[in-house]
Amino acid sequence: MTPPAYVFPIVDSRSVFKPDIFKGKVLFCTGGGSGICRGMTEAMMRHGANAAIVGRKFDRLTQAARELSQATGQECLAAQADVRQPNALKDAVSKTIEKFGRIDYVICGAAGNFLAPISGLSENAFRTVLEIDTIGTYNTIKATIAHIRASKGSYIHVSATLHYNGTPYQAHVSAAKAAVDALSAVLAIEEGPHGVRSNVIAPGPIAGTEGADRLVPKGDVPAGPGYPSGRMGTIGDIENATVFLFSDAASYITGQVLPVDGGWSHLHTGF
Ligand code: HXC
Repeated sequence: MTPPAYVFPIVDSRSVFKPDIFKGKVLFCTGGGSGICRGMTEAMMRHGANAAIVGRKFDRLTQAARELSQATGQECLAAQADVRQPNALKDAVSKTIEKFGRIDYVICGAAGNFLAPISGLSENAFRTVLEIDTIGTYNTIKATIAHIRASKGSYIHVSATLHYNGTPYQAHVSAAKAAVDALSAVLAIEEGPHGVRSNVIAPGPIAGTEGADRLVPKGDVPAGPGYPSGRMGTIGDIENATVFLFSDAASYITGQVLPVDGGWSHLHTGF
């Protein structure tokens, strides 16, 4: 079937950005063992960065680190930690500094999600998602900020677009991600004078991710004038935004939220 003319192309960041723009730099990424954050890590490594990925599941993390190194030729450290545990995160940061000597970029990406109506959401279920997404982001900022000041580095927080509207069964995630957006803005303003930038990437419906598998009906999005992209997003779309926002080309961009959603969040249904 011939795709309609308004389908947005799928682009590899290597066809746009130079391969060595992050040479000598180090990325610290929570949630980097799988999904979108693993893709973001791979993109940074493909452009010359070494990386530390943080996650709870040791086996998955070490396998991901090995595969990322093999795929990119860069070094990747698997640093096991639960972002809800500040001391575990501090240990992960120490291991990263021991191995690489610096941290230039941080991705706060660890997140939890499931579908549940407010009426059926236990206090612990609501608290759990806020602890992973929001407090986990706060803990990551606290554990890394001294190093990011030292390198005049940059943060990207992985949020969502579903809190722009009332997305059913997503009260916990909506509250958590709204708080993440707010944290990033304050971080940008407070740390700007130290040369630190902080931005948010808000992925829309990204094919092949746990979040979209749970939230988006099976099958592709309908193509048509009301659906500007005519396709689901790809992890590669988020990778491209990541490389741009961490690059010097974005040096005057801070405190912003960048939805990477093919325009979906402007639809009346949102996502
Ligand atoms: C209702 C649920 C539930 C469900 C868990 N709970 N799943 N309640 N419906 N489907 C409740 C539990 O009963 C418990 O409450 C509380 O939540 C904590 O559950 P635990 O399993 O003990 O927590 P934990 O082991 O820490 O697991 C955290 C988790 C889990 C969030 C529940 O799903 C997880 O770790 N997910 C990580 C992977 C993931 O979800 N990735 C997708 C991210 S996508 P009680 O009261 O029984 O004690 C994303 C993007 C969003 O975030 C935007 C997408 C477009």
